Amino acid sequence: MNNLAKDLDRVLFTEEEIAARVRELAGQITRDYAGKEVLAVCLLRGSAVFFADLVRKIDLPLIFDFMALSSYGGQAKSSGSVVVKKDLDTDLTGRHVLIVEDIIDTGRTLTCLKQLLAHRGAASVKICALLDKPSRRETPIEGDYIGFTIPNHFVVGYGLDFDQRYRNLPYIGILSPRIYQR
Ligand code: IMP
Ligand code: MG
Repeated sequence: MNNLAKDLDRVLFTEEEIAARVRELAGQITRDYAGKEVLAVCLLRGSAVFFADLVRKIDLPLIFDFMALSSYGGQAKSSGSVVVKKDLDTDLTGRHVLIVEDIIDTGRTLTCLKQLLAHRGAASVKICALLDKPSRRETPIEGDYIGFTIPNHFVVGYGLDFDQRYRNLPYIGILSPRIYQR
């Protein structure tokens, strides 16, 4: 077994399963936005891998941009607010914004971000997330396009990290609790 895979309890979605689902999502997006130009927003760093695969399967006029947020989830008592660490360079006025996220967990990040972007004059703001953990939700937000709905496991790979590692795994797996409990 290779170095990264030994830290997993099991594989949740293989490369093939992810690729098939990404193709389906891109097809749905292509149909829904027919006749429009999309601004795809990649939320760094977790969605970078998903984003690169997704945009290449969307058959529409499309531009993309990047954004990085940090939330006060862990250390300080969560205030539910997010801080913009790297902002978009694109003027959103009249644009159809598609936020691409790795996973919706508590929903705090996307609740704040959706409001922020809508206030910048976007014509529409929708969310595409590869994974969704609805059992963890603290704010009532839903993705418009969801790859897979999963139970409350900590997952890594295909962009998702633990302590910045495992993002380069080409598939998604459940991280063994012994890794984050030590
Ligand atoms: P929330 O929805 O505001 O709680 O934040 C979602 C963010 O938490 C995601 O973008 C991930 O960075 C991180 N996250 C949540 N669950 C997981 C997981 O299972 N593995 C890796 N990162 C996760
Ligand atoms: Mg993230």
